[in-house]
Amino acid sequence: MNVLILLAHPERASFNGGLVDLAEESMKQAGHEVEIDDLYGESFDPVERASWYTQKANRTYFAPLTEQRAHYQSNSLPEDVQREISRLEWADLVIFQFPLWWHAQPAILKGWFDRVLVYGGLYSGSMRYNHGYFRGKRAICSVTTGSPEHAFMPFGRAGNIVEWLWPTHSSLYYVGYEVLAPQVTYGVQGGGIAYQQEDSFSNHLETAKKVWASRLSGLVGESSIPFTGWDDWDVNGVLKTSHPMRWRL
Ligand SMILES: Cc1cc2nc3c(=O)[nH]c(=O)nc-3n(C[C@H](O)[C@H](O)[C@H](O)COP(=O)(O)O)c2cc1C
Repeated sequence: MNVLILLAHPERASFNGGLVDLAEESMKQAGHEVEIDDLYGESFDPVERASWYTQKANRTYFAPLTEQRAHYQSNSLPEDVQREISRLEWADLVIFQFPLWWHAQPAILKGWFDRVLVYGGLYSGSMRYNHGYFRGKRAICSVTTGSPEHAFMPFGRAGNIVEWLWPTHSSLYYVGYEVLAPQVTYGVQGGGIAYQQEDSFSNHLETAKKVWASRLSGLVGESSIPFTGWDDWDVNGVLKTSHPMRWRL
């Protein structure tokens, strides 16, 4: 299996960077091919803008979706975007490694979605969700948080990690990925607010690494988060009234 590990962290020597090294080692030991995609290390520019597009379909008004489609079709996407797409096409599994920043992924990763998952190429009206471009491939988010785990419990002050990760998970599913349950490492102080004394904190990090390593060894056999798909929706994209999940409403 080909595994792409995408890191969205400005410091390669960070705990997040360490989780990348651990995943690389674990996957290689299991006989998989691994490539690391270090967005900061490669100075990936995450901001979508008109100047990326050299052969504009419309020179007077910049519509990102129009230019993405036109440049995909004429094989003239920006070089960095093309490189990222090739990596995704190569990978059977993508591991997204990032810290939770302001209840979401770091901006560099959000912008990576904006620029790399191009309309008219990696998705279209009919090529989405369970009919998506990357169907058959898998993705997982490995996320670290500063707040401790109990702060993410129901009614906890740090909010709901399922909700914070929903935009990322649903975007991955949108382009066809089977999304595995996230690996969340809570309470990684990262030089910020301290929740633990230094010795118990380093034990906490060591335990977290072991938990991730053990999960990585069985990742291939894991089932993905269930999403609804085209057959489940009516013409408006709403869950059919006959669908078993409708009882919740
Ligand atoms: C800009 C910024 C925003 C952050 N927002 C959150 C947040 O919303 N929730 C949280 O639990 N931690 C938050 N943190 C803490 C980071 O998640 C934490 O520092 C990181 O997971 C530690 O990993 P590292 O040592 O690899 O950087 C934030 C940190 C930064 C720098």
